[in-house]
Amino acid sequence: MSYSGPKIVVTPPGPKAAKLIEQDEKILSGSLTRSSPLVGEKALGMYIEDPDGNVFMDFGSGIAVTALGHRHPAVVKAIKNQLDKIIFVNSLDYYSAPQVEYAEKICALTPGDFEKRIFYTNSGSESVEAAIKMAKAHNRRPYGIGFINSFHGRTMGAISFTTTNVVGRRGFAPMYPIGQFVPYPYCYRCMFNRKYPSCGMECMNYLTDIMFKKILPPDEVSFIILEPIQGSGGYIVPPKEFFTRLRKICDEHGILLIADEVQTGFGRTGKMFACEHFGLEPDIITLSKAFAHGLPAGAAIAKAEVMDWDPGAHEGTLNGGPVIMEAAKAVLRVIDEEKLVENAAKMGTYLKTKLGVLQQKYPVIGDIRGLGLMVGIEFINDDKKTAAAELRDKLIQAAFQKGLLLLGAGVSSIRLAPPLIVKEREIDIALNIIEDCLKELV
Ligand SMILES: Cc1ncc(COP(=O)(O)O)c(C=O)c1O
Repeated sequence: MSYSGPKIVVTPPGPKAAKLIEQDEKILSGSLTRSSPLVGEKALGMYIEDPDGNVFMDFGSGIAVTALGHRHPAVVKAIKNQLDKIIFVNSLDYYSAPQVEYAEKICALTPGDFEKRIFYTNSGSESVEAAIKMAKAHNRRPYGIGFINSFHGRTMGAISFTTTNVVGRRGFAPMYPIGQFVPYPYCYRCMFNRKYPSCGMECMNYLTDIMFKKILPPDEVSFIILEPIQGSGGYIVPPKEFFTRLRKICDEHGILLIADEVQTGFGRTGKMFACEHFGLEPDIITLSKAFAHGLPAGAAIAKAEVMDWDPGAHEGTLNGGPVIMEAAKAVLRVIDEEKLVENAAKMGTYLKTKLGVLQQKYPVIGDIRGLGLMVGIEFINDDKKTAAAELRDKLIQAAFQKGLLLLGAGVSSIRLAPPLIVKEREIDIALNIIEDCLKELV
């Protein structure tokens, strides 16, 4: 089985895919939103094949999960080896070596040259949930602060700090009642209508001058949680000054800084962790997505003195199972051996340069931004300002029909997040398809 490019043999969804989708829609939860009618049956590297024989090139990596591409042979081998040894060790009551081996590796790789501890989870939301709980267990303060337009997940703690849109929040109030929100530096659409750097970071001033003086006493704030680059919010990269000031504010008031690297982690941005771009050393870091090659896994890693909760304060039966941990160890090995962080940086530059050329031809491309292989394209209408959400949605569907998987983010952006193994040839194929779609749509 090998693929050399996208191949559409029947208009998708073909008969087999359409039948499955019909069955799915009768029995699976209606809360699931699917961006394209893709039925994944087989996959390898950059490609996913549906049951009708259509082959799609994956430029979203299932939201930054398949960083090594699908079914990397080294990870498949590690999983198979472990299946022959032991599949489950009750992580509440017993010990297993892969948990410790992985912990030693990942704690050395995450930002901050200090002693750390790790808590394993099964998803990004659970990692955020664990981070929130460990922060509160540590400093016993009531409040938490999040940023507007952030995505941290869907469990009750995580959704309480998720502000990308109201859909996930409607009907679930009261949320975790201690959350407050401040603006994120989304400079392309500044809430204060200012330009960086002459704005003096009005958004940060809101935190210090409004939030801390009129709404929340800072000494009652347990944590501030942020994505170093907003993912689902539209691949938004703040200026470095934002992080320097935030770290200083947190230190001044004894507030814990939680960096949610669920989407940005594992080389995606051209550094192992996005915080490294900004010299940020968070107190707690959350991980998932690319962690174990698509197996359900995640973690919250904290300074050792921060993760000081009591025995029994937080646990999970399936957390850090041996098969998952062996897959996770193999993921780290492959990232290192195949120099995927370097490739992400290099291919990201190539991708953005080529997109710049496309932008000259198509002014509907309002903004191109991102780091490494986490690249956002924001579409705008003819007025050169308002968000072209409909165009973005049509583009995703048109690309799908031509065998390219794209994912949306924010109001009118698409996120280009191909596997970190991507090469120039595949970027060229993807951009040609995007250009063909724009020709049809604009
Ligand atoms: C930054 C961030 N945090 C948390 C989550 C939640 O992860 P999960 O869907 O695994 O619960 C996501 C998912 O998109 C994410 O992007």
